[in-house]
Amino acid sequence: MSRTPSFLDFSFSPTTLLLCVSCIAVAVFIHTKRNTKTLKSGLRWAPSPPGYPVVGNLPDIVKAAKADRMHLQMQTWAKEYGPVVKVSAGTIDQYFINEDTAVKELLDKHSSTTSDRPRWIYSNEYVCDQKNVLLLSASHPRWKNQRKMINAMVTSPAAADSALPLNNFETARFLHAVITDPLANTAEQNVWAKLKRYQYSLFALQTFGFPINNEDSPSIHYIFWSVFESIKGTLPGAKIVETFPIFERLPMALKPWARAGRAAHERDLAWCRERMQRCKDAIAKGTALPYCTLARLLQDPKLGGLDSEDEAAYINLELIGAAADTSMMTMWGFLEAMLSYPAVQKKAQEEIDANVPDRLPVWEDLEDMPYLRCIMKEVWRWRPPVALGHPHVAQEDLEYKGIQIPKGAFLHLNAWAIHHDENRHKDPDAFIPERYEGDERSSQQSINLADPTQRDHFAFGAGRRICPGYHVAERSFFVGFSRLLWAFDIKPKPNAMLPLPRDSGFNGIMPGSRGKDLPFMLVLRDESKRSVIEQEYQQEMANFDVVLGMGDL
Ligand code: HEM
Repeated sequence: MSRTPSFLDFSFSPTTLLLCVSCIAVAVFIHTKRNTKTLKSGLRWAPSPPGYPVVGNLPDIVKAAKADRMHLQMQTWAKEYGPVVKVSAGTIDQYFINEDTAVKELLDKHSSTTSDRPRWIYSNEYVCDQKNVLLLSASHPRWKNQRKMINAMVTSPAAADSALPLNNFETARFLHAVITDPLANTAEQNVWAKLKRYQYSLFALQTFGFPINNEDSPSIHYIFWSVFESIKGTLPGAKIVETFPIFERLPMALKPWARAGRAAHERDLAWCRERMQRCKDAIAKGTALPYCTLARLLQDPKLGGLDSEDEAAYINLELIGAAADTSMMTMWGFLEAMLSYPAVQKKAQEEIDANVPDRLPVWEDLEDMPYLRCIMKEVWRWRPPVALGHPHVAQEDLEYKGIQIPKGAFLHLNAWAIHHDENRHKDPDAFIPERYEGDERSSQQSINLADPTQRDHFAFGAGRRICPGYHVAERSFFVGFSRLLWAFDIKPKPNAMLPLPRDSGFNGIMPGSRGKDLPFMLVLRDESKRSVIEQEYQQEMANFDVVLGMGDL
């Protein structure tokens, strides 16, 4: 069985191992220093699972990661040790936040001092050359400028609405690709590749303004691996210099991470510049798309507040990375749910049939489909794509329920543990959209609730670093899954072993997501659907003929 490349695939090179051994003395020193922080009176340190000297819980973390059980390990520790748990990875102390009220207190109310990111020398400073909003320190002026630009041009409700035609176009292409696949209705159909093309193309159009027309496009591969490299470098233990930043003072010849990181950045920049030139050509010819963020940036005398054209091109590459994989995992979680809960699937299809029997659903139909809204919330609760959060850093000592969290701690929003806590959600491992009945709040309304116990889920993070893309994600997910349910039955493959095991098989892109071997097939619900798909497809191809003429990203 092939394994989906995972953000947890990392290994130590021989150089790293050698450096590791030579650093034990330094580690012991840091370890001792770490344990001499002063505890304020009346407070206690966060509980921590028993670990090993110097390396702390790193062996357990690596073991869980290799077995694709990282999210389950962190959930077990959350159950055992409570709302805030300290997990040590060598010299790095990670604090997992396992309770909704703790998220509100620490990441929302204290957001002015909990919105920084760790210092990632390899990923942020070398691979991304401090041009990637996701990794930038909150005190770097570029972080605020990029977020402002992203909000204005890509993720505000108005910007998200303006990209709806692209969602309609790409989903029509996806449905058409499924029904015209020579392997349609068979267990061999490759839905993963079709879904990946559609998600990457959708965001390629919104960023660089070019589509991705082929499932095996080198651009899909390139973007995935480029983003993968920068995220992988943020994992504890991935690069020795993160554990021992003092090595950054060595000459370049002795810093393999710096040379590799710079080379990766140069390669990415060359890739971006080539596409930027094509975008400039399209502007000159008057064929640049109105939705194309890069074209709008390049035509703005202030460049959207960014520092350089290189930054403008590079941030668009990173935006595809932030958007496409999380959206892909969301759809995959949805497909897993439909495969495993046929009664939910049937109920959702009944709602769709009652509202839009003769045409493909569109975003505006959500108002009339409350059960589909419940499904959206339940997918993000059940399978949050970023299950263990993207780390924030405490810029001052914090307190929560008598626990002291020291300045410098990494803070992880443990969405998996919060979403699978039986005190918050009854029968949490089951997919039950009805649990959200009557909750018609949008993601934004839910995020802004004063009472965090009422918030639907934490899939988009919290505080000032919250994902800016939730309006875009809601629209693209709704259009994608409602059309899929309108057209197809999601059925088990003939040899499928169901139910899927609850505590294994999470070999997907991120912890807690399943890999491409999910045993389902898409079967056209009835022949009348075929002609509607064919018509919509022809119409969209005519609407977007200019785009198709531009060639692949
Ligand atoms: C299902 C879809 C998505 C999920 C589950 C998701 C989730 C997340 C999470 C958990 C974070 C980190 C938040 C934190 O640090 O507290 C994040 C950051 C981010 N997301 Fe999303 N995301 C999704 C889609 C998108 C889309 C569609 C876009 C853009 C169009 C986007 C752009 C970003 C950016 C730029 C950041 C970095 C924010 C920062 O560090 O300041 N995301 N996302």
